[in-house]
Amino acid sequence: MIYADYNATTPLSEAAKAGMAKAFECWGNPSSSHRAGRLANALLEESRERVAKAAGVEAREIVFTSGGSEANGMVLMGSALQCGSDFRLLTSPVEHASVEKALPLLCEKLGTQVERVALAADGALDMEDFRNKLESFRPHLVSLMAANNETGVLFPANEIAEICARTGTLFHTDATQALGKIPSSEFNRADFITLSAHKIYGPKGVGALAIRAGRKLECTRFGGSQEIKRRGGTQNMIGIAGFAAACDDLNDSHYEAIRERRDRFEAGLRNSLSDFTIHGATVARLPNTTCLRFHGIQSEILLTALDLDGFCASGGSACSSGSHSPSHVLTALGLQADEAKEAMRISWGRFTTDEEIDRSIELFVRQVSRIRQRRMERKAQ
Ligand SMILES: Cc1ncc(COP(=O)(O)O)c(C=O)c1O
Repeated sequence: MIYADYNATTPLSEAAKAGMAKAFECWGNPSSSHRAGRLANALLEESRERVAKAAGVEAREIVFTSGGSEANGMVLMGSALQCGSDFRLLTSPVEHASVEKALPLLCEKLGTQVERVALAADGALDMEDFRNKLESFRPHLVSLMAANNETGVLFPANEIAEICARTGTLFHTDATQALGKIPSSEFNRADFITLSAHKIYGPKGVGALAIRAGRKLECTRFGGSQEIKRRGGTQNMIGIAGFAAACDDLNDSHYEAIRERRDRFEAGLRNSLSDFTIHGATVARLPNTTCLRFHGIQSEILLTALDLDGFCASGGSACSSGSHSPSHVLTALGLQADEAKEAMRISWGRFTTDEEIDRSIELFVRQVSRIRQRRMERKAQ
């Protein structure tokens, strides 16, 4: 099998597995004041420090969640409740479904007003439009992802943070795909930062929201006073310990090697095939992602053929695969619905080898040529 879907999820690293095993032994409730509780609490707080270090924030700013989706929801709902019925939110048309799908509820039930920043060429953020809307719309919260899960395109999170800070506007960035793939110093100036463990070789079902000191956010998950009263519920200790161990294991040099392999894959396709587009290739993007579209071939057909060859990648985002509607990210890039259905996401990772890249190029060349050849034969009949 060649796994090329690291943006959907990553395999568990040995470090993460070892971290989780440690938590099996610390089974106490971290909120209990007796010895068993204190042991668990020590692991919890130590884990918080390690996640904070990877994200470039303070330990007391980390609130553990069940993942990136929950962290995104916490910021949107918490901010809307904090501000009341005149809440204004400035976002983009390409955010993750956990942001996008919360918007109708916010608008219809809580009276939130939403504006979206336009995209520039190839999916980059139109910074002029952002500045204009910040001034004219005067949002309470700006929510813009640091890196897109489908195209890998980066939004300049720290530049946005600085502009927002000058106008006193709070800024949330979804750094789920950015953590570990670009330095945290490129997104850590945001007021709220979403993180997820399973994109960085940690376990699924755990993540965090960094809430920078002094930023106000209404609580939307009630229970005990866990997570500095910001999120009730006994913590997922095994997940958190695995998340912390995965954070320790992050290393920028991994991604330089991955960038080289990704570029080699793209160069290999360019040398052997024509009539395809790599979306986002002309702007700043994640080092591991190729958003690829073979003109005239539905990605579902090509991915099914590749799957039989043992190659795993996804059409659009994993959350929307299986649904036949085109990805909102690709249509926001200006693609027609038919074109959007041709797009697929190839995302490489730490365990990708040179041999896998070479084999993948061969598989693409064979399958794309075969599908096109068959089309031509059918047309000629
Ligand atoms: C950009 C982005 N945000 C949020 C999420 C949701 O993260 P989780 O799966 O941890 O809920 C994902 C997952 O694919 C993502 O890619």
